[in-house]
Amino acid sequence: MSIKISDLSPSSPSAADLNFADDGAGGHSMHPNANSAAAYQSSLQSRKCAALSGIARVPGDKSISHRALMFGALAEGETMISGLLEGEDVYNTAGAMRAMGAHIQKGEDGLWRCFGRGLGNLVEPAQVLDMGNSGTSTRLLMGIVAAHPICAVFTGDASLIKRPMARVMTPLEQMGAAFMGRGGGRLPMAVRGSEALKAITYRLPVASAQVKSAILLAGLNASGETQVIEDHPTRDHSENMLRHFGVEVDVGTQKDGSDIIAVRGGQRLRGCSVDVPADPSSAGFPVVAALINAGSDVRLPNIGMNPRRIGLYETLLEMGAEIAFENRTISAGEATATLHVRAHKTLRGVDVPEHRVPSMIDEFPILAMAAACSDGTTRMRGLAELRVKESDRLLMVANGLKACGVELEMGEDWLTIHGRGRPPRGGAMIETALDHRIAMSFLILGTVTDEPIAIDDGGAIRTSFPNFLSLMQELGADIHAADASK
Ligand code: S3P
Repeated sequence: MSIKISDLSPSSPSAADLNFADDGAGGHSMHPNANSAAAYQSSLQSRKCAALSGIARVPGDKSISHRALMFGALAEGETMISGLLEGEDVYNTAGAMRAMGAHIQKGEDGLWRCFGRGLGNLVEPAQVLDMGNSGTSTRLLMGIVAAHPICAVFTGDASLIKRPMARVMTPLEQMGAAFMGRGGGRLPMAVRGSEALKAITYRLPVASAQVKSAILLAGLNASGETQVIEDHPTRDHSENMLRHFGVEVDVGTQKDGSDIIAVRGGQRLRGCSVDVPADPSSAGFPVVAALINAGSDVRLPNIGMNPRRIGLYETLLEMGAEIAFENRTISAGEATATLHVRAHKTLRGVDVPEHRVPSMIDEFPILAMAAACSDGTTRMRGLAELRVKESDRLLMVANGLKACGVELEMGEDWLTIHGRGRPPRGGAMIETALDHRIAMSFLILGTVTDEPIAIDDGGAIRTSFPNFLSLMQELGADIHAADASK
């Protein structure tokens, strides 16, 4: 009963429950109890297990959670959020919005409530905003700060301070904001915003939803109509959610095939309800785990199926995966489905078309693990952006897979993996470089390799998937602290 992914298109938004949060004590104060920080500290190890089965309740979408908090803080009135990702990255966004005057609280009903200040009314944060590991928080917030008459200083962890910010500085400077940061456009960086920003028309030099969103958010409080042109469609959660908050966003296709997205300055955001679907990027980990463990049968409810996020699933279907998309719904402009994954046969290698890259930009590490267990060669190209994610993901994946005995070739922006139709040897200690997706990908591979796979540090997993360990253990995986493994 598989359906075609192309059938999963979003339609009109519908209001639903939302949750937002703040306990008044700052961004790091409400971490979930299960999967405590201690559980992820230092090295984790994954060993071969039997078939996986059960229901995997994946946490809320990270991209949508960030936006729900930010837009709620910019809105007039109350926004209620359900399904918010309670992970480190999102707590950092909540902490920053609080520091700029929004009131964010988690209720006993589990819903998060955000009492917004209205566009243009954020206050200057008194302290440096430490965004931890989160590039999305940093870049989108730079767009928001740019459009306020305030100064904010951003910093982050050892991963985030290496990541390029010039991609947002350039357009925001054109609009009238000022930046002062380290060389190469790196954090720490101060942003001085203005209430007199000018609208611009900007063609994205890299396919980036973060850059698009930063410009649109600045444009909301600029004079005139701000237009962003994108040659390669990137995730459109900002556009969908701005509409949900009552903002007019025009999207058109130009003669050359590019998309043009426009917002008029001076519009108001109205507080509303946001129902955050489960994250399709996080779902990729248990989905691939199920597919490479013969005989597995796993259901994943309420997974976001935005057409611009489902490249991994299109690719897995082409590799011969059995994934059914059931109970399809639309909520707040975002499509969702229950994924039902059954593993009957070995996946086969495929060529991933380059145009698909933006719709699976975060999924190449986990796809590489599936490719390493497949029959035949998988070719991935157009991957330059992977070099500037939480780590140099191309390098980290290639190094880790080689250490596990996988045959591969890597270029500046491509990766070719030769699968042998069976899981690789494994037996390596993987460096994760503060990258949650590298950490989880190799733990998933370790569920099938002959020898266990260990990662040097599981801490980053809590940025996006705080219940990863318990969820995988409940499905039957043998993933534990390295010294607790038998
Ligand atoms: C995101 C956009 C993508 C993605 C990131 C989340 C977003 O980054 O990799 O995890 O929420 O807009 P880029 O815009 O750099 O491609």
